Amino acid sequence: MLSLWCFNHAVAYLEIRELQKHFVKKAGGLLTSHTETVKAVDGVSLEIQKGEILGLVGESGCGKSTFSRTLMQLIPPTSGAIILNGENVSALSAKEVRKRRLDFQMVFQDPYASLNPRMTVFSTIAEAIRQRHKGMKGAELEKKVAELMATVGLDASQMKRYPHEFSGGQRQRIAIARALAPEPKLIIADEPVSALDVSIQSQILNLLKDLQRDLGLTMIFISHDLGVVHYIADRIAVMYKGKIVEVGSADEVFNRPTDDYTKRLLASIPKLRQD
Ligand SMILES: Nc1ncnc2c1ncn2[C@@H]1O[C@H](COP(=O)(O)OP(=O)(O)OP(=O)(O)O)[C@@H](O)[C@H]1O
Ligand SMILES: [Mg+2]
Repeated sequence: MLSLWCFNHAVAYLEIRELQKHFVKKAGGLLTSHTETVKAVDGVSLEIQKGEILGLVGESGCGKSTFSRTLMQLIPPTSGAIILNGENVSALSAKEVRKRRLDFQMVFQDPYASLNPRMTVFSTIAEAIRQRHKGMKGAELEKKVAELMATVGLDASQMKRYPHEFSGGQRQRIAIARALAPEPKLIIADEPVSALDVSIQSQILNLLKDLQRDLGLTMIFISHDLGVVHYIADRIAVMYKGKIVEVGSADEVFNRPTDDYTKRLLASIPKLRQD
């Protein structure tokens, strides 16, 4: 009985409880000045299992990036808890947060803007490795950089090149290698293929899927495109105005949505594709 209970109630690898991030802004003119609260993330609760890709989808401005920045602890939450592997990381001191931040790595939309143009691929990836393995250097470091480049499908003989010498898709591979380098527990990919050509998009999506299978990667994949999210995610959470309106298996949400907003999002896909 006990084992059955444990099986049915497996503890989530990442648990997000009632997460809120509100921004208070000044609005109005000189005489009519008042403050306005933007509820960018408004009580999000989600559970993610180890090795799972959770897709987070929603229209522009619904709060996806604010959610990911709060999760990364780049900005403090207004309220709520983030529990990673049983530890409440939202209750740690600033020093502890800096250490734990290595466990959360991001891949951004624009791989060119997110890479330092003055650093070679070797320096970029080596720096990320040394965040976790401070003493690593010389041949050992070079071998590790070469391994990571091979993992993301890059030619390790090109490690002394600079970002501008690579294509957009290759640059996103560099950004993925950099994210993997500190051996994170979770990768948050915020619109990682939105800036890429459609033909390159599927290469990057397949790479992320391969990494999930081969490395047991746990990931939150953020996109405004339900079609892309359906392709890559195991489960999908739909966000609307800072709240999660629907969560389910990728096929359930894509093929049998229950929420009206999800239905509208789904209906907008063919229109977008015709453009
Ligand atoms: N630093 C900030 N100060 C005030 N308001 C903010 C701040 N950052 C985000 N917002 C507001 O929070 C809301 C959510 O923004 P966010 O960038 O998280 O949306 P998004 O879903 O990532 O959109 P997109 O798909 O366009 O990237 C928006 O109304 C935005 O204007
Ligand atoms: Mg965003």
